[in-house]
Amino acid sequence: MNAPLRVGIVGGGLMGSGIAETVAAAGHDVRVHEPIADARAASLARIVASTQRALAAGKLDAQSQKELLERIEYVDDLAGLADRELVIEAVLEDLTVKLDVFDRLQAHVSAQALLASNTSSIPIATLAGELEAPERMIGLHFFSPAPVMRLVEVVPGLDTSEQTLAAARSFVASLGKTAITSPDRAGFVVNMLLVPYLVAAVRMLEEGFATREDIDSAMVLGCGHPMGPLTLCDFIGLDVVCAVCDSLFEEFRRADFAAPPLLRRMCSAGRLGRKSGRGFYEY
Ligand code: CAA
Repeated sequence: MNAPLRVGIVGGGLMGSGIAETVAAAGHDVRVHEPIADARAASLARIVASTQRALAAGKLDAQSQKELLERIEYVDDLAGLADRELVIEAVLEDLTVKLDVFDRLQAHVSAQALLASNTSSIPIATLAGELEAPERMIGLHFFSPAPVMRLVEVVPGLDTSEQTLAAARSFVASLGKTAITSPDRAGFVVNMLLVPYLVAAVRMLEEGFATREDIDSAMVLGCGHPMGPLTLCDFIGLDVVCAVCDSLFEEFRRADFAAPPLLRRMCSAGRLGRKSGRGFYEY
């Protein structure tokens, strides 16, 4: 492994926690910025539960689990990330919120620190546009659950330097994951392929073509997918699926990217999937 880095994560939600665990598991020193006390506690509980699963499966021993957890620290102020060499933003998928994070972050971290976003739908060029040094900004798109999924999409924006790209790829390799470099276009590589498939499943349900169970069984049993598409929508979060649909449709204007009305109504009704207790299924 390369020398351990001092890594900051902004946001202790599902993705932020999963990324923090992944980065700590690789031996890096992790500091998570999460201003809300309950969210900090939930993040730590999530990481403990996830590492317990890894322990039970023989992927981790008790000593490594202890050391992994000791490498993760929480801070409630962005100033707590001042000494970080790399900061990965994983807050709400909302442009205003993300721009505010990067604007405040650049005031704290050193001019050499790399800044990354885990966005799945906002152009890296848009986020970098607000920075004084856009060459050090890059997309690092992890997949959920981050400790298990083996891919990270590395997304250079228009102004990202070669040096930043090389450092980001080397960081991903240090996590034991595979990096693919994607152009800074809506959906990158994975979501451009995945989202039309998920949307087709929602339309099939909406049109009464098949039941939710049959749609999911079809892809699990017929194609060997670990989850059916409707279960996967619930797992990802319907609001996130909708946001990715919107960014793909906005960019390419293709009907297969358009969010079906059912998906949108479910979002409006707060049926966001697993995280809200109800989506295509009940949890
Ligand atoms: N660290 C390391 N390994 C871990 C772990 C941890 N914290 N927790 C679990 N594992 C391992 C387990 O040991 C197991 O390994 P084996 O396969 O070698 O036995 C494996 O990970 C699966 O874990 P579980 O047995 O606990 O869970 P499962 O078998 O029920 O699978 C799942 C759960 C991994 C979520 C699986 O259903 C799956 O792969 N689903 C598809 C997920 C997917 O498609 N994610 C991408 C979504 S798209 C996205 O995220 C991007 C976006 O922008 C929308």
